[in-house]
Amino acid sequence: MDLFRKKSAESYIEEGNAGDQTTKLKKSLGAMDLTILGVGAIIGTGIFVLTGVAAAEHAGPGLVLSFVIAAIACVLAALCYSEFASSVPVSGSAYAYSYTAFGEMFAWILGWDLALEYGVAGAAVASGWSGYLKGLLDGFGIQLPTAISGAYNMSEGTYIDLPAVLIILFITYLLTRGIQETARFNTIMVVIKIAVILLFVAVGIFYVKPSNWSPFLPYGMSGVFNGAAAVFFAYIGFDALSTAAEEVKNPQRDLPIGIISSLAICTVLYIVVSLVITGIVPFGQLNVTDPVAFALRFVNQNLVAGLISLGAIAGMTTVLLVLLYGQSRLLFAISRDGMLPKVLSKIHVKTQVPVVGTWTTGIIIAVLSGLIPLDRLASLTSIGTLFAFAVVSLGIIVMRITSPDLPRGFRVPWVPFIPLLSAGACFYLMFNLSKETWQGFLIWLLIGIVIYFAYGYRHSKLNK
Ligand code: ALA
Repeated sequence: MDLFRKKSAESYIEEGNAGDQTTKLKKSLGAMDLTILGVGAIIGTGIFVLTGVAAAEHAGPGLVLSFVIAAIACVLAALCYSEFASSVPVSGSAYAYSYTAFGEMFAWILGWDLALEYGVAGAAVASGWSGYLKGLLDGFGIQLPTAISGAYNMSEGTYIDLPAVLIILFITYLLTRGIQETARFNTIMVVIKIAVILLFVAVGIFYVKPSNWSPFLPYGMSGVFNGAAAVFFAYIGFDALSTAAEEVKNPQRDLPIGIISSLAICTVLYIVVSLVITGIVPFGQLNVTDPVAFALRFVNQNLVAGLISLGAIAGMTTVLLVLLYGQSRLLFAISRDGMLPKVLSKIHVKTQVPVVGTWTTGIIIAVLSGLIPLDRLASLTSIGTLFAFAVVSLGIIVMRITSPDLPRGFRVPWVPFIPLLSAGACFYLMFNLSKETWQGFLIWLLIGIVIYFAYGYRHSKLNK
């Protein structure tokens, strides 16, 4: 049994370029599309929902430092993703990178891990989306029947979170229409989302009381680090861009630009927003599910707060879009390698989208988000993502040794120092997550390993 058989970067690239309309994705995205797709993926539940609890329970006004620390870890990882994306520009992202750097078993584990990132995050963001929608409808005096307004919970009389299910199905439908249509819808939503964030800052800044920033570190630096692990979720998404590689016109150049610039834009916005929120509301009162809108209600700017809620809904919609997109392309890549059923990588002749793979992704995530209460899953998503970032970072060092001559559109500076620092930062943040999160993560990996031995290993193309 060869658990470490590898697939070369060259064979990956050839495979992406070969084939006909039923196996090949359409190349239509440029650097600007990618940057917008990236911002679409990143800004969402993290800033609109998780900020409040992170400030109230972990970091206090030092939340801004938590955002800076999480950003540093992400920027380091983004450099590593950029090098991989520009040298192995294929759909599978970190899954494919691991296949070339560490071999099949690791690749499968990473693929499974990314399913945790995109799939579970998608379900979690859909429930966040549903929560904001219900809040907004409430404001207009409209209430959904209890039975369909929340995840399955006998004692509260809720059976299914219907808005969450419907938004996932709607987005799945959109994705099957084709990548260009998707990018267009995404652009409109991203503009709305950035507009409401700027509106928040422009209005909120006049209500900032510097006295709210002291004490600045009520829970000390350890609170800041816990806060960083908690808000790390807010940055997830830039890595999903690399799953678009086979649909990018000039991936060697455009992917690094898209990844790094979308991350930079979001980092600046997060720093400003976290300063303004903690400047308006004393941190102890921020334990709410809609902290950004809450901060404006706190100073009686109710109309603007309503607009912010609308923007948050738009914002989370695009996050869902990119997460589901990433998940379907991941299934596509694993299935093309034989480790999942073939039908998942079949491309529709007209739209050039893996339609069955996309619907499979959508339906599974819709079921998860409709039935299971997902409030705790953000941290599970984060641990999975941090693990992927760490493996990708270490993979850079391996690839520099094993494939020194591979053409690289972008090169991480100071290898191995930067990749080591990146992996170290990710592991450090992982250790700042709770014991339950670790348990959930290890159980998930164990299930994945069982599936690999039961199905993946035997069906893998490399087995033939
Ligand atoms: N970064 C994404 C969000 O905040 C996952 O919703």
